[in-house]
Order: sequence, then C-alpha cells, then structure tokens
Amino acid sequence: MANLKALVLAGGKGTRLRPLTHTSAKQLVPVANKPVLHYGLEAIAAAGITDVGIILGETGPEIRAAVGNGSQFGLNVTYIQQEAPLGLAHAVLIARGYLGDDDFVMYLGDNFLLGGITELVEEFRASDYDAQILLTQVADPRLFGVAELGAEGQVIQLLEKPEFPPSDLAVVGVYMFSPTIHEAVRAIEPAPRGELEITDAIQWMIDRGHRVGSHLVDGYWKDTGRLSDMLECNRMVLEGVERHVEGTVDGHSELIGRVQIAAGAIVEDSVIRGPVLVGPGTKIVRSYLGPFTSIAEECVVEDSELEYSIMLGKSSIRGVSRIENSLIGKDVEVTSAPRRPNAHQLMIGDHSRVQISQ
Ligand code: G1P
Repeated sequence: MANLKALVLAGGKGTRLRPLTHTSAKQLVPVANKPVLHYGLEAIAAAGITDVGIILGETGPEIRAAVGNGSQFGLNVTYIQQEAPLGLAHAVLIARGYLGDDDFVMYLGDNFLLGGITELVEEFRASDYDAQILLTQVADPRLFGVAELGAEGQVIQLLEKPEFPPSDLAVVGVYMFSPTIHEAVRAIEPAPRGELEITDAIQWMIDRGHRVGSHLVDGYWKDTGRLSDMLECNRMVLEGVERHVEGTVDGHSELIGRVQIAAGAIVEDSVIRGPVLVGPGTKIVRSYLGPFTSIAEECVVEDSELEYSIMLGKSSIRGVSRIENSLIGKDVEVTSAPRRPNAHQLMIGDHSRVQISQ
C-alpha cells in the first residue's frame, strides 16, 4: 500500500476567538481540558498514519511546545512554516517538498470531528478518487465552503462562504488528496479575501474531469472558531466522560453525576453537578459548578457559581455569582468589586467581550 501522510494546518489568526488568540493559538484552546489540535492528531494516529506535516503560523513556537516531535501521539512530525496566512491551498503549495507524490489527508487543526477519520481514510484508499471531501448539513452554510451535489451524489460545484448557498452541505475541514492537488494549487489565483482557497483548487480539479468524491459525516463536527462552538464542543465531549475522583473532596461537598476531579485538586464546601472536569491543582471552595464546565489546571473558584463554561489554566474567580456561557483565558482574575460605589470595574484586553447582567 502506498504511503499516506497527513498535513495538519495549525496557522491562521483566529480572529473570531480574540482576545484569547492574541496570545495563544486557536488550535490550542482546550476542549474538555485538552487542546482541540490533540483530538485531530489522535484521530490521524488512530487511522494508521504516522508521517505528519504541521503548518505553522505566528503561533509556531506554542504549537511546537504542545506537540513536540509527535511521539506522544505515536506520530513522526515535521514542521513547515507559513510566512503569512495566505490560505489553505497555499499551505499545500509550501508543503509540496514534504508531501512528495504521496496521497495525504489534510486536517484543519481547529476542526473537531467526533468518531475520527479511520473510515474516511479507508474509503479513500479503496477508491480511485483524486480528492475526497467531507460534508455535513449545517444551519448557516454561508459561514463555510458549500458543495452542490449532482444526481448521483458527485460534487459538481464548491463555493467558499457564498452569500446564496446552493445547498446546506458545508465542507468539513478534513480532506483527502492525491498528488493531483499540487497541480491545482499552482493553477489557481487568490480569491477576493486574498487567500488561495482550497475550495477553488478542488473546483479546478472538478472542472478538469478529475474524480472528486464526497462523504456525508453522520457524526458530530464543529469548526471551533467561535465561542459558542467551543462551548458546544466542550459540552459534547463532556457528555462522554465518566466519574473519576483523584483529588481531595471534603465531607461538606457534594459531587453529582459524572464529575472528574484530577490529582492534586481540592474541593471544599461545594456542589458540583456534572458533567464537569476539575483540572490538577485546582481549588473549588464554597462554590457551585454546573453542567458542561471544564476547569483547567491550577485555578481557583471561591464563593462563586460557574456553569456551561471553559476556564483555562491559572485563573481565578472569587465572589462572583453567577457566570455562565463563558470562556475564561489563562492567568485571568475575576473578582467581586468593593460594596461602594456599586460599579463594575474592568481591565480587559483588546477585542474582549463582556456581557454584564443588571
Ligand atoms: C475553512 C474552509 C471552508 C471550510 C471550513 C471548515 O474556512 O475555507 O471551506 O468549510 O474551513 O472549518 P476558514 O476556517 O478558513 O474560514
């Protein structure tokens, strides 16, 4: 069997997740306390692929620190630096030397696909397709690449974020390619948003009679580019966690349902209604944690209530009731204000979003 590689895209700016992405890569925002990117790399390893090229952007050093040489995933990782976010097809262009004449799966590092890619990879290996895309029905196709299928299910047209979508079938960020794609990415011109679009490259293949197959995803898929998607994805993963308590929970606390308390975490005088993850070294004191909440390592939640939220490492919430639907970054402090004046006091970064209930 010919070798099959993976090309994982971990560049880009992540503007929709600012301010977190001012300091951190969007692919490293955690879902159930694990970077989104790790789920993709695990899926690639599970499909029997070992050689993985990772495209890096400005956040390259951080991605390298999180993935290393790939051995923790059973992968052999090669990094490829993209000098600017010039598009998905541009990433293929600069990976030409690495990919050689091998088939490959291209995986967008901020995409989350429950159920992995093993079936897709096997289907592609068994087919004579030059490219295979994954499609899924979405409520608002204008936010994605959109496919129009012919009577026999063949892809006849692909449009990038169309104003008037021809269908509700969005292109999922996992693609299978034969080396024909290299010719396509060299042939196309940048699209109006200034990027070399992979949808245009695939359209180029269709127009020249190359075989492009599609596969409808029946499982759960999210592009984690926005806050609501991150929280939803977190909910989905937490639906599957089991109860596991390693940390210390005092006799005045109540853990209800599927709650994980990591080693070194402390829970005192609190109520935690699962599914909830409490990371290593985190302290929950006189607080309530509600369903679908993930708290990373070394955080403090004290005299507060938190639900349906993601909290990154080394942050604290003290005396605040109640926080929901929130994504709280690293090293963040949220506290209650002194009694007088009765005012909100803020020091928040550029591009932050705060909603205050009155
Ligand atoms: C990219 C692709 C788009 C695809 C989406 C999936 O969009 O261009 O066709 O539907 O990923 O996540 P981007 O995230 O670059 O806006």
